[in-house]
Amino acid sequence: MRTVIVNIGELAGVVPEGVLRKTGAGMGETGILHDAWISFSDGIIEDFAPMSTPHPSGETVDAEGGLVIPAFCDSHTHLVYAGSRDGEFLDKLSGLSYEEIAARGGGILNSSDILHRCSEDDLFAASLPRVREIMDKGTGAVEIKSGYGLNPQDELKMLRVIRRIREAVPITVKSTFLGAHAVGRGYSHEEYVRTVVEMMPRAAELADYVDVFCDKGFFTVEDTAAILEAGARCGLRPKIHANELDVSGGVQVGVHYGALSVDHLERTTEAEIEALRDSGTMPTMLPGSSFFLGIPYANAKGFIRAGLGVALASDYNPGSSPSGDMRFVMALGCIKMRLTPIEALCAVTLNSAYAMGVSDSMGSITRGKRASLILSDPGWTLTKLPYLYQTPFIRSVWH
Ligand code: NIG
Ligand code: FE
Repeated sequence: MRTVIVNIGELAGVVPEGVLRKTGAGMGETGILHDAWISFSDGIIEDFAPMSTPHPSGETVDAEGGLVIPAFCDSHTHLVYAGSRDGEFLDKLSGLSYEEIAARGGGILNSSDILHRCSEDDLFAASLPRVREIMDKGTGAVEIKSGYGLNPQDELKMLRVIRRIREAVPITVKSTFLGAHAVGRGYSHEEYVRTVVEMMPRAAELADYVDVFCDKGFFTVEDTAAILEAGARCGLRPKIHANELDVSGGVQVGVHYGALSVDHLERTTEAEIEALRDSGTMPTMLPGSSFFLGIPYANAKGFIRAGLGVALASDYNPGSSPSGDMRFVMALGCIKMRLTPIEALCAVTLNSAYAMGVSDSMGSITRGKRASLILSDPGWTLTKLPYLYQTPFIRSVWH
């Protein structure tokens, strides 16, 4: 059955077939069609054109001048978790940093203790509403990481929950094995790195990608290399956490192992930009965690000026970014990182789809891609999304 949305004021995020990501100045060229229609059948975009061109027949939705954009693609989340860390939120307000909270046994290890006591069914029941929440807010594809298990049994429990979520919802779900998120309780650092390497074949049966928190106080470049090699032997491409707390070498080791993305990047230099040039790795920035932790925003503008592409994702997790609202991420991209609305849209759709390996089917208005779309209320334009950054704007979402 065909659906046709007519009288679209702005159809934004139009990208030619075969373009899997945009870089540099190209990020500012993602197309907008004014006064347009779009048609889709069986969940696939068939065609779109200005209203002056006749449209095919089908069930018609009148956009009444509203905005249509591709659904958001959130390429970096930790939304499967148990319990809450609101106690640490109070510690943070009293002045403790993310590292100080972690050093006191809070942080990731706190979530891991709670998750250890939580059954698989309860973990699924706690996590599914977060996915439904972001779907309602316009997310059409999401990557979800393990990393609060921190022992073989609980890491696999998390990966099974992510698989159950994938089966339960109509949006695209990708799964990442982040065994190396912190050293699990009861292990020495070396023992734990060895355990993560040994877990790889079983994790690879459930996960699409492998991740390591390559940063000061967590895992070194050498640990990361050993884990990414184990991942490569099992067919897992890396997506890694790098340069959040320090200039960690994470970008270089990620690029060396062919990472799909290197994420965070709050602390980078020219050397990281050079390492990323001519690579297939998407620099991915997480302004929601800069906002929540009060740490610097990544240098998105500098990366784009250097000719690189940039993706933005939410990092939805209980410790550093307790929100999966991609429209807010887009607004932070504009307000705090000085992206134009067109660049920010590209960063939360096409480029973030690339960063999770789905930009052949998601992330833009392109014939043959999935009709994963957001229709706004009348009166909205792309510029108003980050400007009126909290006013509800969604009329319908197609997944
Ligand atoms: O991406 N930086 C490491 N991991 C997460 C935080 C996880 C947590 O604090 O629970 C992040 O910010
Ligand atoms: Fe993260």
